[in-house]
Amino acid sequence: MFLLSLMPEQASTVAAEVDNLYWFIHIVCVIFFIIITAGTMYFAFKYQGKGPIQRTIHFTHNLYLEITWTLIPTIIIFFMFIWGFELFIRLYKAPANAMEVRVIGQRWNWSFYYPQTGKQSSELVVPTGKPVKLIITSNDVLHSVFIPDFRVKIDAVPNRYTSLWFEALITEENKEGIHDMYCAEYCGKDHSKMYSLVKVVSPAEFTTWVNDVQPRMGKDLYTALGCNSCHTLDGTKPPGGGPSWKGLYDIETRALEKNKTRGVDRNYLEDSIKNPQMDVVPGYEGVTMPGFAHVKEAEIQNLITFILEQSERGKKELEELKKQLPAEEKSKEETKK
Ligand code: CUA
Repeated sequence: MFLLSLMPEQASTVAAEVDNLYWFIHIVCVIFFIIITAGTMYFAFKYQGKGPIQRTIHFTHNLYLEITWTLIPTIIIFFMFIWGFELFIRLYKAPANAMEVRVIGQRWNWSFYYPQTGKQSSELVVPTGKPVKLIITSNDVLHSVFIPDFRVKIDAVPNRYTSLWFEALITEENKEGIHDMYCAEYCGKDHSKMYSLVKVVSPAEFTTWVNDVQPRMGKDLYTALGCNSCHTLDGTKPPGGGPSWKGLYDIETRALEKNKTRGVDRNYLEDSIKNPQMDVVPGYEGVTMPGFAHVKEAEIQNLITFILEQSERGKKELEELKKQLPAEEKSKEETKK
């Protein structure tokens, strides 16, 4: 118990095993240190030269003694090696069912990205009872991910991916599940401030957290969803592409196939994004735009707003929309800008 209190708390499934190995090696070293120093001092005193007469008898070697002091340490060292190697392999080989989290180090902070939902965070939030695999890289110089309570550490290297894994525990001593993550590689002026919190939460809390994703803004979606490969913002039309978004919303009605017409409004844009083949404008029959019905509703709305911003009529319509907000809210909106 005393030894335990000398170490950071054990908040991952491997932490106790790392500590056991650490203490085994440490205690073996201490025992040998005592035996060797005590022996050296004892013999130095016992056989010190007390007078001019040389009393030491001539001897060459002692086979049994030499075998003993070679064999015993060799066995102990091999034991340490096998134990350590086995643990090392387990520490760095993530279980197949591990949940992936992307970690990016940059001067001087960490950012975490959850590809499952697109959640981004400046804190590492992980569920308990599930192996988590961090896939780590750096945007600039060498950094190092170090979570002492989990007993894990690995470099973050630019242009390379490193990884480590752990399964976090909620312990009796730390029910809040808050831990420290440091940068353990000197990376410049604010290296000592390159620090993040690790939060261990229950699987239910984690699910709520990871699904609470801020919708991306239309400008980001324009490139993120690949709209930019077919729709320009400058009025030009790439070969085989769709109409430019510049001035797109200035057209008030669209003539469609089969002599249909349709008013151009938010609903029309929404349909065209989710189900592009629903109302095809003549001249674009051969263009197969993929549907984006899988994109979150909030993001579709943000994308539509972005399309509106590319034309005069759209801008006016957005102005009008803002006027619908209650006066108080409106002033808040304005202070945001
Ligand atoms: Cu990053 Cu030190």
